[in-house]
Amino acid sequence: MIFQNLVKGAVVAAFLASSVGAVDNGLAITPQMGWDNWNSFGCDVSETLLLQTAQLIVDYGLKDLGYHYVILDDCWSVGRNASNNNSIIPDPKKFPNGMAAVADHLHSLGLGFGMYSDAGKYTCGGYAGSLGYETVDAKTFAEWGVDYLKYDNCYNMGQAGNQQISSARYEVMGNALNATGRPILYSLCNWGEDYPWNWGSTIANSWRISGDVYDSWDQPDSRCPCDGPDAWNCGLPGFHCSVTNIINKASFIVSKAQPGAWNDLDMLEVGNGAMTDAEYVAHFSMWAAAKSPLILGNDLRKVPAKDLAILSNAAVIAVNQDPAGSSAARRWMYSTTSSDVYGGNAIQMWSGSLQSTTGGTYSDMVVVLINGANESMVLNATLADIFIDNGASGTAPQVKMSWEVRDLWANRMSESEAQAIIDATSAAPNATNATTVGSGRYNATQTSYAQGLKNNDTLLLGNVTSTVGPSGTVTATVDSHGAAMFRLRALPTGMKRDEL
Ligand code: GLA
Repeated sequence: MIFQNLVKGAVVAAFLASSVGAVDNGLAITPQMGWDNWNSFGCDVSETLLLQTAQLIVDYGLKDLGYHYVILDDCWSVGRNASNNNSIIPDPKKFPNGMAAVADHLHSLGLGFGMYSDAGKYTCGGYAGSLGYETVDAKTFAEWGVDYLKYDNCYNMGQAGNQQISSARYEVMGNALNATGRPILYSLCNWGEDYPWNWGSTIANSWRISGDVYDSWDQPDSRCPCDGPDAWNCGLPGFHCSVTNIINKASFIVSKAQPGAWNDLDMLEVGNGAMTDAEYVAHFSMWAAAKSPLILGNDLRKVPAKDLAILSNAAVIAVNQDPAGSSAARRWMYSTTSSDVYGGNAIQMWSGSLQSTTGGTYSDMVVVLINGANESMVLNATLADIFIDNGASGTAPQVKMSWEVRDLWANRMSESEAQAIIDATSAAPNATNATTVGSGRYNATQTSYAQGLKNNDTLLLGNVTSTVGPSGTVTATVDSHGAAMFRLRALPTGMKRDEL
């Protein structure tokens, strides 16, 4: 009893501590979810693209899975209006009805509107930046009905180089957004420059930790130079950063993620075509486990069914949206070649605590086994390693217990089910007719992930695939460049599986 109260006290204290640390706009209590046009469309933006995509987000059940923000990236403006307070002017060809009309339409669908600007003279695409115009731009965004700002780092006029200079530059926009009175999620995009994980939480809801992601598992690219054990200490974030490069960067700073303030591993590449299915599964699993914002980066008008099935996996999303808001951490890694332990061919085990769904003292645990080898491998994770945070060398009480092992990819939608959703046919999961596609999938707009976990919804918990006993090992055969992802749930002490 005393122990339980102590644990509860610690949880309350931890929550207070985290809410004090995080920016106080009440947003992104779990990592934000949405879609951004950049990865698949670059500068080719328009009202039509955003609204078509928004409709597909609704039709494909993605909105109900939590993908909420439709984010317009770079290249949308044509300069400033000197006779109207230097306010920024949307490109009338790309946005003939103006931005407020886009916001209204998105809101009418129950979605949020994300906007892009830059804490510099120009955006990365060379359009007008907001440096020096923070107040007028924040006011304009609020008037349009914007709900989210992605704020980039190009052309920053040398106002970078240490944490104080960068944080001060980004804080100006944070204050301007807060002053509008409209809740606007603030997403920093300074690519990990000047260690935003050290100061971002006090002024923003998330911060990019890397140069731009590339649709590649492990392609070494000298334009993304920061790798290996020093990857976090990156003087030149670059771009063309592979998925394994970014996972490595994230591994050093997982402790910085907290409710309201997240490490942003960059937008998802799932669906853009250059990785294998196994690689996309691993990419999505790791973004979820590391509590990155989950921002779709693909063209939904031609999403392959197998990719829609990945992006729709509610059991994996539930890990990302877990109320405990704590990132998984890398517990070990080794290489199948003698040289590059930190390279794309690393075998890695990550684990992290989740909210308890048993009502008991012991948190659920997520386990991710990543196989970077060029062949399928049988990988093992001992309870001692999985629970190392709770006691070194196998001394954690959890190691002496038995656990349900729930494979979070076991219930992935089949390709034909996903295709039925895309085609809006009556074969879609539980659909009664073409207008209710997706109704049999998890609906987070009706029941939050937090509540669904409390309700023990099997769409979130998955099915028990095995159990692991005291001092045991979780084993999985993992595809080349793939990942296995499990939720461990405590079994009552001394109880055998068939007594439950
Ligand atoms: C930077 C950002 C990208 C994207 C482009 C737009 O590279 O990191 O995510 O916003 O700018 O130009």
